[in-house]
This record gives sequence, C-alpha cells and structure tokens, in this order.
Amino acid sequence: RPRILSGAQPTGALHIGNWLGAIRNWAELQHSHETFLCVVDLHAITAAHDPIELLKNTRTTAALYLACGIDPEHSTVFIQSHISAHSELCWLLNCVTPLNWLERMIQFKEKSIKQGNNVSIGLLDYPVMMAADILLYNADFVPVGEDQKQHLELARDIAQQRINSRFGNPEKPIFKVPQALIMKEGARIMSLSDGRNKMSKSDPDINSRITLLDNPDLVTKKIKRAKTDSTIGLEFGNPSRPEADNLLTIYAILSGKGMEVASLECAEMGWGTFKRILTEAIVSALHPIQTKYKELMNDPKYLDDILRKGSLKACMVADETLGRVQDALGFLRKE
Ligand code: TYM
Repeated sequence: RPRILSGAQPTGALHIGNWLGAIRNWAELQHSHETFLCVVDLHAITAAHDPIELLKNTRTTAALYLACGIDPEHSTVFIQSHISAHSELCWLLNCVTPLNWLERMIQFKEKSIKQGNNVSIGLLDYPVMMAADILLYNADFVPVGEDQKQHLELARDIAQQRINSRFGNPEKPIFKVPQALIMKEGARIMSLSDGRNKMSKSDPDINSRITLLDNPDLVTKKIKRAKTDSTIGLEFGNPSRPEADNLLTIYAILSGKGMEVASLECAEMGWGTFKRILTEAIVSALHPIQTKYKELMNDPKYLDDILRKGSLKACMVADETLGRVQDALGFLRKE
C-alpha cells in the first residue's frame, strides 16, 4: 500500500481550513494508504511560544486528529519530538541545502516580515525539518493544503538533487521522492475577515477563523461578522468577490451538497439567508467532532496509549531511514 505522511502544528486549536484542506483528506486516505500523522511540535517553536500553551495544544491537536475521524487502527499517530530522528535528519539535510533555497520560501518571507528582528534560524529552517519529517517515512504522498506546495517542492529537490543524486545510486535511491496531494476543493480556505487572506491560526483577529472547538454561539457570531459584499446571490470564481467564493465553498463542502448543488441553491440568495444556512451547516458538521473530542479529553490514558504506540511504530521506520542516510553520508556506525 502506498504510504502517506502529514502533520499539523500545535499552535492553537485547529480551524476549519486545516480540516477542509488537509485533515478530512487524511481521514479518507487512511483506508487505502499506510498512514503516518504527526503533531509537529518542533515546528511550533519556530516562532516565539508559550511552553504552557505548547503542552496543552500538543494534546489538543492529537485529540482533534482522532475526533476528526483519524482511526488509530488505520493510522500511526505520534508526536514529532518523540522521534529524535527528525532532528538528526534535519541536521544532515541542513548541511546539503543551499541557504538561498530557504530564503526564497514564500512562507518564510511572509512570516519574517511580520517578525522583524525576531526571526529565528528555526523559522528559516522550517522547511528542512518538514523535509526530514516526510523523507524519514519514505512517504509516497503528502496530503496538505495548497500553502504547503512550495515546501513539498523543496523536500523533493533536497531528496533528489542533494541526496539521491550525490550519495545514492539510481537503482537504489536513498530517499523516496514524495508527491504533494492537494484537494480539488477546500485546499485554500480564506479568512472570514478578508477573502484575500488565508485562514490562519496565527491571525491575531480571532473572528477571522472558525476553530473546530467553537461552540454554536461563537460560530453564529463569527459568521454574522464575516465580511460580505453588496451583491445579492452567491457564486464561485468571481475574482472581485473572494468572500462569496470562500463562504460558498465552505457551505458546499460542509453541507455535503457539493459545488454544483450549492451554487444553484444560493445563486439568488441574500446574504442574511445564506449566513443562516451556512451557520447551520458549520454547527452540525462540528457537532460530532466536538462530542468525540470531549470524550477523548476525559480519557487521557487512552490518548497517551495511542501516542505511545504511535511513537514505537514511527521510531522503527524513522531509525531505519536515518541509518541508511548516515551510512550513505559516511558516518561510522556505532557498534
Ligand atoms: P499547519 O499546522 O499550518 O497546517 C496543517 C494543514 O492544514 C493546511 N491548511 C489549510 N488548508 C486549507 N486552507 C487553509 N486556510 C489552511 N491553513 C492550513 C496546511 O496546508 C496543512 O496541510 N508545515 C505544515 C506542517 C508540517 C507538515 C510536515 C505537513 C510539518 N511537517 C510534513 C506535511 C508533512 C503546516 O504548516 O501545518
């Protein structure tokens, strides 16, 4: 079976962008793929962080994976920092990755503008750690939102140009070269406050996103405030109406109606009516996730057990790959 690997940062409650763009795809793919899913806590400290929040969010994020339908019978769920091979491989990759490949990463450029003088080496190195995450598990596919496309390209380039072609031989490549898997619909959910910006965990405006843990009142409030325009009727693909496109996309997916039916249903609908049915669709889609989440948080031992088993399995795969790379690079094996 082909293998997938993916992950999300524990930097706050996951939002519907994470879910629609990535996690729901994991839940689907786990039935036909060997699946590795990690909570990327090492990535979460690339910007200033609060230790108490990190600790809390790491558990929350793992619990939300499961609440979204990730089934430990089908998927290996683990915490990135539990597997030391991630940091070790990252160093090896650091030493072959050209600095200018990292300096031109869009996400680095955007984040470093915001952080001014506080940009860490870790922020620059973020995509190399991500390449290590993926390459350690010989992943065939990496299901992610559209914003991660460039990072995937970088992982491929490092694998092919900097490791396989330099240190491997064509019959026996060191790394499998992974491919991004990006959903046709929902791969880029936009902010509720501005349809031209991506919905993001790090946006200081909490009304710009709906998290998977928002209660019905909060969802109602946020959708009421969501930016609209002065045109009546919802539509897809009109570049001057990014909010209409985004909210209709969310509705189409979460109502289960799909793009065609949703666009017919809402073509002449006023914003007030639309916001009401959108709110209902979101609230009822989140309900089962929140119910499952509460159960999981009431049983910490169950979650710990899954994470422990996940680490054991992940560790075996990761250590094997790391050993292969160390050999190829000429490191003396410890006896
Ligand atoms: P993170 O935590 O930012 O996002 C987790 C996943 O959600 C997707 N996503 C979105 N999809 C649609 N619309 C949005 N507005 C939106 N915002 C986020 C992301 O594309 C991602 O798939 N770098 C990764 C974490 C990572 C990783 C990896 C992923 C670290 N190592 C290895 C795959 C493989 C990230 O930014 O996650």
